Amino acid sequence: MKIIQSVAQMVLTMQDFRSKNKSIGFVPTMGALHEGHLALVRKSISENDITVVSIFVNPLQFNNPDDFLKYPKMPEKDRLMLENEGCDVLFTPVKDEIFPPEYKKSFQLGYWDTVMEGAFRPGHFQGVARVVYRLFEIIQPQRAYFGLKDYQQFMIISRVVAPYFQDLKILGLETVREKSGLALSSRNLRLTPKQYSQASQVPELLKKAADMLGKKTLQEIKEWFKAELSKYSELRPEYLEFAHADTLQPFVEGDTPSKYRVFVSFYAGEVRLIDNMAVQ
Ligand code: PAJ
Repeated sequence: MKIIQSVAQMVLTMQDFRSKNKSIGFVPTMGALHEGHLALVRKSISENDITVVSIFVNPLQFNNPDDFLKYPKMPEKDRLMLENEGCDVLFTPVKDEIFPPEYKKSFQLGYWDTVMEGAFRPGHFQGVARVVYRLFEIIQPQRAYFGLKDYQQFMIISRVVAPYFQDLKILGLETVREKSGLALSSRNLRLTPKQYSQASQVPELLKKAADMLGKKTLQEIKEWFKAELSKYSELRPEYLEFAHADTLQPFVEGDTPSKYRVFVSFYAGEVRLIDNMAVQ
């Protein structure tokens, strides 16, 4: 596996692969890799000649400075995991090269940025869009792989960022979960055992909430969910929303529930976690 830090060297390496007609698959990450990330890497390896993984903890997308400082970092373990999977190139750029002063691109995110994660994390998606655009520009992949765990991010990248790049396909992969149902997340590493076990109850509650859609009013479902979470001392709900899978528009009473997904954000102690799933 090649490990590249410099943008110039990355551009040259990618040009070289392209000149040999190699297809390039790309998996952007912020490191502290787990099976969720590896599922994306494996998919890319199965569909492309060359797989590139980037690890860059993007300061622009952290609206909470403490979350940025405490974001888990384990570069050596990440490297070994990627090497084991058969990743071809690991790109570990530095901030000044990803965001040079002359890089001014910003995005009109519109409605996408006003709901759920957009509403609760001001500036987050602008930061995500800017870093992903810059990485696409440097790597110019044919395919890029994202997890549906960050569904709103996946939508914004597919609909707003990717259209700038001809022939780029964005693929979304199902959320990888623990046996308990808890969605894998780098932030889970920051949970105490008690927080971890309480957070593990949330996916089941989310599924029950999804099953109630169309049978109870939104207000009843939200109140039920809040009451369930309040049984756990370490958990604090932030939002529970039902949004259309293609548009992220809120659920309209009377519409077909299966067009929607249920989205949650909650705190376990100080750690903010998100999850979402399709309404069956
Ligand atoms: P990060 O949280 O490291 O996630 C990298 C990719 O892995 C994202 O596409 C995310 O949705 C996916 N992922 C995370 N947990 C997953 C799980 N349990 N199952 C399946 N996929 C999962 O998302 C980011 O980084 C950043 O915002 C990034 C896109 C790299 C831009 O900085």
